[in-house]
Amino acid sequence: MKQPIGVFDSGYGGLTVLKEIVHTLPQYDYLYLGDNARAPYGTRSFETVYEYTLECVQWLFSQGCSLVILACNTASAKALRTIQQTYLPTIDASKRVLGVIRPTAEVLGNYSTTKHIGILATNGTVQSQSYPIEIEKFYPSIQVYQQACPMWVPLIENNEQHTEGANYFIKKDVQNLLQQNATIDTILLACTHYPLLTESIQQLVAKNITILSQGKIVANSLKDYLGRHPEIDNNCSKNQQMQFYTTDSTHDFDNHAINFFGKNVKSSHLSL
Ligand code: DGL
Repeated sequence: MKQPIGVFDSGYGGLTVLKEIVHTLPQYDYLYLGDNARAPYGTRSFETVYEYTLECVQWLFSQGCSLVILACNTASAKALRTIQQTYLPTIDASKRVLGVIRPTAEVLGNYSTTKHIGILATNGTVQSQSYPIEIEKFYPSIQVYQQACPMWVPLIENNEQHTEGANYFIKKDVQNLLQQNATIDTILLACTHYPLLTESIQQLVAKNITILSQGKIVANSLKDYLGRHPEIDNNCSKNQQMQFYTTDSTHDFDNHAINFFGKNVKSSHLSL
């Protein structure tokens, strides 16, 4: 039976990706799961991120999804490979899990003229070295500079991103990134929560620096993937329906989700 495409994030961030996916592929059905009760993932260990992500992927599979997108860089960095190599071979062969790092790395080099790219991400994503490793495969001549921003996700999850306190951390981390190299001309927001900070970051950097979010990149990559894999595409239902689940308060989720998704949503609760 055809089922929705599953989209997962530790909390709200994946909604910035889902928004672009729905824009690019409006005909499909989507089932979103935000693990808000256990967010942020960015400062958690490899084992914990793997355990939480696997649990959420298993739930999405249990709802019938054949294809799950990890719309979370931290989960993509710390859990995706193990899920693909260790877990998927033990279950139904039609199930797929895709992440956001590889599709981003594939096109990232096209945005930079100076070949010096900055990455802003969670501790987990930075420590995993996933971006430097993946970018090297596609663009060996590009230099990658990374800065972990451990305070940003908690601030955004709590809707505190426009406060003086938030500005302090945003400025500090952006400066720390740019101090690593004066010719960085592209900054990737390598955490799906960060697009909410685009304007604040823009004000801190020179006009010639491109601030890049992943939503459109991931959406285009998914479109391409479904086009190349009709056997997966055939398992995806197409009634333009969306469902949202959170592991925390639905009241909070419904109030905050609009900041990320641009539209009102009505969520259901999931206990894991
Ligand atoms: N949106 C997640 C990401 O892209 C945030 C991770 C977190 O929960 O810290 O990395």
